[in-house]
Amino acid sequence: MRIAILTGAGISAESGIRTFRATDGLWEDHRIEDVATPAGFRADPALVHRFYNMRRADAARAQPNAAHRALARLAKQHDVTLITQNVDDLHERGGSPNVIHMHGRLLGALCATCGHRWPATLVMRSQDRCPSCTKPATRPDIVWFGEIPYHMEQIWQAVEDADLFAAIGTSGQVYPAAGLAQHARRAGAQTVELNLAQTAASRDFMEHLIGPATLIVPQWVDELCHPAP
Ligand code: APR
Repeated sequence: MRIAILTGAGISAESGIRTFRATDGLWEDHRIEDVATPAGFRADPALVHRFYNMRRADAARAQPNAAHRALARLAKQHDVTLITQNVDDLHERGGSPNVIHMHGRLLGALCATCGHRWPATLVMRSQDRCPSCTKPATRPDIVWFGEIPYHMEQIWQAVEDADLFAAIGTSGQVYPAAGLAQHARRAGAQTVELNLAQTAASRDFMEHLIGPATLIVPQWVDELCHPAP
């Protein structure tokens, strides 16, 4: 079966990585316009690098959880396209192949001048020089608000081809990710939302599994890999 999966911060929450919009979320003590927009980076690159250096250190300390590992298991039995809004590498460390990071990766560095990409160091500074054009214009390879998410052609196609679309641990508040369920449904896919609670996108899903990802994702994967007789 062709399964397209979209994950959000909720799948990494039980690994100790903060989500964005919970009561203790990242957007409670950081202003999006300061740390997650091109204008914010131009205004204060050092602040933006401090924000992503903190998140990179948190992600490096975190371990994949049972939900990450279950999705890796699923990919062994089904044709899975794993699309994530997350910038941590827990899906990769949990064993998933070919993860599509539509919002970029903490482990990536990007030159704001020439567009060159290279592996990020744990601590990055804007005066770090680009290995290609040597300009001091290093930024995190993260898609900020107002920028175009990565790999959208591949993502739309995978969602259109899917027999089943699942969204796991995302609040359904940021587009285009939040529109993928509707797109899948229009293309004839079954749709399921796995989350702690109802979300802004719940109306787009035919089925809802409610609970912590480390409990409901392994159960969901077991059902898909060993369907009850
Ligand atoms: N198990 C399952 N779901 C969970 C868990 C958990 N343990 N903990 C939290 N959740 C759910 C919450 O109910 C919420 O619906 O995860 C979702 C987290 O929502 P957000 O914090 O908004 O994160 P996300 O949906 O990934 O944000 C999307 O917004 O700020 C941008 O670029 C950022 O990629 C991010 C995008």
